[in-house]
Amino acid sequence: MGKVYGVVLAGGIGSRMGNAEKPKQFLEIGSRPVMIHTLEKFVIHPGFEEILVLSPKAWVSYTRDILKKYLPSASNLVVLEGGATRNETIMNAIRYIEAQGALDEETIIVTHDSVRPFVTHRILEENIRYAIQYGACDTVIPASDTIVQALDNESISDIPDRKYMYQGQTPQSFHAKKLKETYEGLTEQERSILTDACKIMVLKGEHVHLVQGEVSNIKITYPYDITVAQALLGLETEG
Ligand code: CTP
Repeated sequence: MGKVYGVVLAGGIGSRMGNAEKPKQFLEIGSRPVMIHTLEKFVIHPGFEEILVLSPKAWVSYTRDILKKYLPSASNLVVLEGGATRNETIMNAIRYIEAQGALDEETIIVTHDSVRPFVTHRILEENIRYAIQYGACDTVIPASDTIVQALDNESISDIPDRKYMYQGQTPQSFHAKKLKETYEGLTEQERSILTDACKIMVLKGEHVHLVQGEVSNIKITYPYDITVAQALLGLETEG
């Protein structure tokens, strides 16, 4: 069986968070940085060869410091520099695997937002299983609100049937070599539009299987989400 890598994406700066003193993945919930909560879920899962953590260049050594502080016994964590876009960050992870001589047809990457600390063991498990089985998978929950499309941002152009609509979460998992080859085949213009890695595979006609997410698998985006995350952390520790 091919090797499975965790790819924890922390290369963003969190501009929607406002004037936080550090990118949101480093802010604390329950007295530990958000990304540490996320990484803990990966570290306790036995399926990962290595867990790659990709941070903005200016935060790489800081990331190494907090991993040493909060996860001292984890031996399979590797901190790398992220890229200019989310997809470029994923590519940096794949390039690292390739440089290690470990990239083959069977290599799997489980890519996950560092700012989704409530991912579960079951979600990680199913991502690994479906990526192996189908080549690619995406974690989603059924859309709770009706989705309204407005192509001009002013008036409704469509209201798609809710029963076919889902909200995308992460992880998104792939055969790493296939994703890299597909990404490298895109034009600059396609790259600027296809900001979602699963969308690249879908548009190239690849099967992307759905993994059932959880309502609690939230992404910390705005200051309000920190408050929600604190509450969810309380529930997680109780349960
Ligand atoms: N990400 C990344 N590399 C980038 C951009 C984003 O690894 N060049 C990561 C972020 O760190 C985050 C995840 O992708 O964990 C989801 O992205 P998003 O929530 O949009 O994060 P930011 O880009 O940091 O936030 P914002 O859009 O508010 O600036």
